[in-house]
Amino acid sequence: MGSDYSKNRKLKQRKVSSKVQPSEPSHSVVISEASYGLSESNNVANYITDKQKELVLETWKIVQCNMTRVGVVMFMNLFETHPDVQDVFMPFRGLAAEDMKQNSRLISHALRVMGTVEKCLARINEPRRLEDMLKNLGARHVMYNAKVDYIDLIGPQFILAIKPEVGDHWSLEVEEAWSDLFKLITHIMKAAMAF
Ligand code: HEM
Repeated sequence: MGSDYSKNRKLKQRKVSSKVQPSEPSHSVVISEASYGLSESNNVANYITDKQKELVLETWKIVQCNMTRVGVVMFMNLFETHPDVQDVFMPFRGLAAEDMKQNSRLISHALRVMGTVEKCLARINEPRRLEDMLKNLGARHVMYNAKVDYIDLIGPQFILAIKPEVGDHWSLEVEEAWSDLFKLITHIMKAAMAF
């Protein structure tokens, strides 16, 4: 059958292009000169405002205290609404929800996604480093058989999972700030996955 792994490796070795167009961020303000190098057309230069950076950094401090819970809730809800995504993780095939909640592989990937968010926030003012990190991560996801469309599912689930943690500090602006950050993250990852 020619292993998926070697096929995916070859794909990965091809030059990364940026054909995927991102979804529009919820604001249209020009905020900085940072291009995030997203495409030659340079039409996605401005994803997240300084105010939004503040909002995500502030609320992250709250989320950070319960990273494992948030991460597991996020993936359990994702698998419930999109059972096909569960099958991408070989060890989860056919597992019941109750068994998965305790699964170390689920917890590990959930924490890795949360760790990626943390790394993004640490690089929020360094677009090139942010972009390099996310491009490499996106390219590796080709090898993990994660479809491009699946990547978009994570942001909304992340937002649903953090909302109860953030509690009284939640607002429409906070939600939009996280949504725009995830549009940026997923745009860069997907661009590296689309050949
Ligand atoms: C924003 C979205 C996502 C982020 C930030 C993310 C992050 C990560 C990270 C940091 C790793 C560790 C290995 C590495 O660094 O290469 C990883 C592994 C992996 N990811 Fe993701 N991921 C995302 C979405 C997804 C989705 C939607 C799927 C499935 C459809 C997926 C499937 C996998 C698989 C199968 C692995 C291999 C290791 C494992 O099974 O735990 N990822 N991901």
